Amino acid sequence: MPGRRKAALRLALRLYARELRRRPLLTGLALLLPALGSICLHYLPPLAVAGLVSRIVAGEALSTAVLAPYLALFVGALVAGEICWRCGIHCLNRVDAYGMEELYVSGMDELLAKDAAFFHENFAGSLTKRVLTFASQYEDFVDTLAFQIVANLLPLAFASVVLWQFDPRLVLVLLGMITLTAVAVSPLIRRRQALVDAREASWVRLSGHVADTLMNMDAVRAYASELREAAEHERRVREHRRLTLVSWDYNNLRIDTIVGPMSIIANLAGLLLALAVATRDGGPGVAAVIVTVAYLAQATGVLFEFNQIWRRIERSLTEAAQFAELLLDSPTVLDPETPEPRPTGPADVRLDGVRFSHTGHAEPLFDGLDLHVCDGERVGLVGRSGGGKTTIIRLLLRLMDVDEGRILVGGRDITRLAQADLRSLIAYVPQDPVMFHRTLGENIAFGRPGATAAEVHAAAAAAHVLEFADALPDGFDTLVGERGVKLSGGQRQRVAIARAVLRDAPVLLLDEATSALDSESEAHIQQALWRMMQGRTAIAVAHRLSTVAGMDRLVVLDRGRVVEEGSHAELLAAGGGYAQLWRRQSGGFLGG
Ligand SMILES: Nc1ncnc2c1ncn2[C@@H]1O[C@H](COP(=O)(O)OP(=O)(O)O)[C@@H](O)[C@H]1O
Ligand SMILES: [Mg+2]
Repeated sequence: MPGRRKAALRLALRLYARELRRRPLLTGLALLLPALGSICLHYLPPLAVAGLVSRIVAGEALSTAVLAPYLALFVGALVAGEICWRCGIHCLNRVDAYGMEELYVSGMDELLAKDAAFFHENFAGSLTKRVLTFASQYEDFVDTLAFQIVANLLPLAFASVVLWQFDPRLVLVLLGMITLTAVAVSPLIRRRQALVDAREASWVRLSGHVADTLMNMDAVRAYASELREAAEHERRVREHRRLTLVSWDYNNLRIDTIVGPMSIIANLAGLLLALAVATRDGGPGVAAVIVTVAYLAQATGVLFEFNQIWRRIERSLTEAAQFAELLLDSPTVLDPETPEPRPTGPADVRLDGVRFSHTGHAEPLFDGLDLHVCDGERVGLVGRSGGGKTTIIRLLLRLMDVDEGRILVGGRDITRLAQADLRSLIAYVPQDPVMFHRTLGENIAFGRPGATAAEVHAAAAAAHVLEFADALPDGFDTLVGERGVKLSGGQRQRVAIARAVLRDAPVLLLDEATSALDSESEAHIQQALWRMMQGRTAIAVAHRLSTVAGMDRLVVLDRGRVVEEGSHAELLAAGGGYAQLWRRQSGGFLGG
């Protein structure tokens, strides 16, 4: 999708430019001062030297009065140049640091506003890299702009003005050679870009394999495949080394073999022309030779930088564009402009003619689904895996929007509520809870920011978290590991339940909340869940029917449709699919 890539590049450039414009004075100084510094350091001293030499050549005695102004210009220029650079870098450091700070913050804000579905389609690892490089590349972008672009162009303009005074043809030589080199080299730079892209792609393959292996270390061990993984790694490293050398060699052996001679020709042409100019009657004399040679040597240095300037700007913008691309699609789950107030009355839940398809699925999962759960009613949602139970729960949370129909909570269309208000009405225990890499206590307290330690403790007790928390090295202060790896699946579920208990919301959504527990713990926790459901509207998804058999009503879902509905006894009496499943799960021994 080249159109999309271009749009992303433009957006990245716009975002960076917006950051630069935020502090116009500071940015202006950061860009100008290094350029002025370069003029002072490299372009003024030759003028002083040339002036002085002219006087000597003219046969003047070097009295203090003659020397002083030239020495003052010489020393003054060097000192001023140093000051310009120090002040310029001082400003540039601030432009970089504040700009990156704002980009780190706004980048995360953009991600936090994304739809839930977005995170199913993008790996967290790749998002992390993209959002962080988006901010960090800004430094490289601004530095290249200040140090290599403005700090080369402005002195070049200054040099042109000075050389023009001697003879306009000197300017022609200088600018002509630079233009010629740029034209000759630019197709090569584009070719080189393809080589760099190939190298970067090999880097992605290399790092992807390292991450994949390390994340599956248990499998690597269990299948004794260390050697295989190491060999594959070595193969990818070798490929990366090969492509790296190809792109480096192209730089050294192709591009710079053009730039080098061009630079020599420019310097030689300049010298010859300056000699001709200098010896002209009434001409500028020896000063022209000294200044021309000094300026050309300095200015043709930029020829060797073309490649690098292009590469650095291209790289920082490409990296930034990888993030900007994510911003091209705006989030679709948004707060209404004027949200209705959070409902405070009965918290019934209603799905009304809901039609919904997951992205990438041609057939809708739900087509005209109706479901009403009264205030205080407890409904068990059962059915084959893939039936759409989890999807219903996620739609109720408004993690995604329905295509048609509506969902009401407490009588209000959930799209008319602020998302935070809707979610404050709901306590949710997900199917496969993952934890933050924070302490156990913090993971529970996540359910209600500002909860007291006593409240967290009570919630932990209700969800039977205390039973294992006491055995952890630091109790509630134990870090649970990335995604909660140091806890078992059942322990993570108990933490998620404690979080929901602490939430204390009128609507309870439990998605296989006890699936990872053994039967004994499940019996304990089931009691806690029953207590939690008292006086609340609850929808509990369960695979094991015994956990929901006691609910007020059971709804059997199959391929997005409600196929059976009623109490446990009613469904058994009806002798349909539920009754069959119940007999299978209870081993045919337990009756109604
Ligand atoms: N994020 C998703 N993207 C695409 N399809 C999905 C996504 N989540 C679920 N599905 C599909 O939707 C159907 C219902 O899934 P789900 O609601 O998780 O069922 P259940 O919880 O009843 O097992 C399945 O066919 C599943 O493959
Ligand atoms: Mg599910």
